This record gives sequence, structure tokens and C-alpha cells, in this order.
Amino acid sequence: MGNNLLKGKKGIVFGALNPDSIAWKVAERAYEEGATIILTNTPMALRMGETQKLADKLNTKVIGADATNVDDLNNLFTESMEILGGKIDFVLHSIGMSPNVRKNRHYSDLNYSYLEKTLDVSAVSFHKVLQTARKLDAINEWGSVVALSYVAAQRTFFGYNDMADAKSLLESIARSFGYIYGRERRVRINTISQSPTITTAGNGVKGFDRLLDFAERMSPLGNANAEECADYCITLFSDLTKKVTMQNLFHDGGFSNMGMSLRALEQYEKGLTDDDESQADNHLFD
Ligand SMILES: NC(=O)c1ccc[n+]([C@@H]2O[C@H](COP(=O)([O-])OP(=O)(O)OC[C@H]3O[C@@H](n4cnc5c(N)ncnc54)[C@H](O)[C@@H]3O)[C@@H](O)[C@H]2O)c1
Repeated sequence: MGNNLLKGKKGIVFGALNPDSIAWKVAERAYEEGATIILTNTPMALRMGETQKLADKLNTKVIGADATNVDDLNNLFTESMEILGGKIDFVLHSIGMSPNVRKNRHYSDLNYSYLEKTLDVSAVSFHKVLQTARKLDAINEWGSVVALSYVAAQRTFFGYNDMADAKSLLESIARSFGYIYGRERRVRINTISQSPTITTAGNGVKGFDRLLDFAERMSPLGNANAEECADYCITLFSDLTKKVTMQNLFHDGGFSNMGMSLRALEQYEKGLTDDDESQADNHLFD
């Protein structure tokens, strides 16, 4: 049951691939809260994924757009305003992809054309979305734009590879554009730094199941799941957070401010055998 927090608001949601996607949950929650939305994803994702199913359920339309392609974005915003009958109130950028991660390229042996793709898809696309929206004056005053990030932007996580660089850039774009868009049109721009979450993109990260378990043990409130992330997004799209902008907001059960927890320490003590230590030596170069 919704509370009409987004009653009458119009939104665009990027990145709902399948029911595991964080964007999928956000779209469902936004609809429940009274918003009308347009869903978007790449033409390839629309062929392989289930976005149309979600659109049918939410009684809405899907517009294909590659978020790295400015012509596609122009078309997306223009058509969305036509279909929704006015300017947009909120946008969710829920997009991430690294060919280096996909192809198991080590961070000290990156393929640089893959790196360019990682940065373009996972970070620069956010700038492209914002720049396109601003040029078309597509977002209402006090509108809200949110992108999803990860704590690897600030701290090093084994296996997160060049996505860490992309997330740092993403968060920086939220600040830089947040200043301009806020000053000129009162549009707020934030990133949510989400706990590890079981999704298609999440599962691509090396050792993801153990990362998930570690984060769970380290976080006093436990990991935040996709539904809880959706709830947090709704608050940021709502009028209850009008003066929050240019922030990276941790939504991680407290993980980002922890050093060592009792639960993690106990688990580590259980596993600390000679065998584990020699195995750790073998992975010194990972
Ligand atoms: N899953 C996690 O553990 C986790 C944690 C923190 C942050 N995040 C972030 O959440 C966001 C959503 O990821 P998810 O976990 O829901 O996985 P997901 O795989 O369901 O979503 C990623 C989406 O990005 C889309 N995409 C890829 N390239 C694109 C392009 N060029 N243009 C438009 N869309 C494109 C994909 O089609 C897909 O829908 C990502 O930014 C991810 O980095 C995820």
C-alpha cells in the first residue's frame, strides 16, 4: 500500500532488466506511490530482458535508449514528455557495466577501450542524461535525479575493478551538475551508495557471494536489499527531501562507517587455519 508520496509526479526509470534489478523495484514502488513513469533500457536489454512485462504491469510504455547515445536520450526525454503530458519530476539512473569485469581483465592489465566503455556506460551516461534534460528543459523545478553507486568509489574492494573508478566519477558528476542544475532550476541530484545486492550486475563482481556475506556481518543493520533501496529512492523523489542535493547517501546498514564487527571477527577466527593462510599467499597478486 502506498502513501501517495509521488502522487501526480512523472518519472523516467533507467535499468529495469528483470525482477532482480534494483530499478524494477523502484519502478514498482514509484507506481504504488502514485507516479506515472516511462521505462527505458538498451534495445539489446529490451530483447533479452523482461522490461516489457513490467511496463504491462505498471500500465506504461518502454522507450528504447542507449544511455551513452545523446540522440537516443533526446528522443527519450521528448517522447516521455509527450506521453506523460508534461515535464519530468524524477529520474532514476540505474546503469552499470564493465567489459573488463565481464572479460576477467585484471585491474593492472586493463584493456583501455573496455575502460572507456565502462566509464561511458556507468558514469558519463549520467552526465549525458543530465545535460540532455537540461538542454530540453525537461525536468520540473524541485525535480529529483538519483543514480546508484557503491562504496568502492571511496574504498578499495577486491574484484570491483574499473567499476570503482566509474563510481567515483559518477558521484563527482552528481556534485558538479548538482550545483548547476540546483542553482538554475532547483533540480536536485544525488547518488545512493547501495549495499551489495543480488542482481545480474551484482553477480558479475568477483567473489560476490562472499562480499555479500562479509557486508552482512559488518553492517549493524545488515545489508539493505533492493526493496529497501527502492523505498529510499521514493523518499528522494518525494517533496519530503527538497533540500537534499549533491550528496552521496550511504544506504548500507551502516557498513561504510564500520571498521571491524564482532560478527565478522568471529567468522574470521573460525576460518583462520594454516591452510587458509597458505591459500591467501597464492592469491597475493589477485
Ligand atoms: N547489485 C549490487 O550489488 C549493486 C550495489 C551498489 C550499486 N549498484 C548499482 O545499481 C545499478 C543497477 O544495477 P543492478 O544491480 O540493478 O543490476 P542490473 O543488471 O539489473 O541493472 C543494470 C542495468 O544497466 C543497463 N544498461 C547497461 N548498459 C546500458 C546502456 N548503455 N544504456 C542504458 N542502460 C544500460 C542494463 O541493461 C541493466 O538494466 C548499477 O549502477 C549498479 O552499479 C548495484
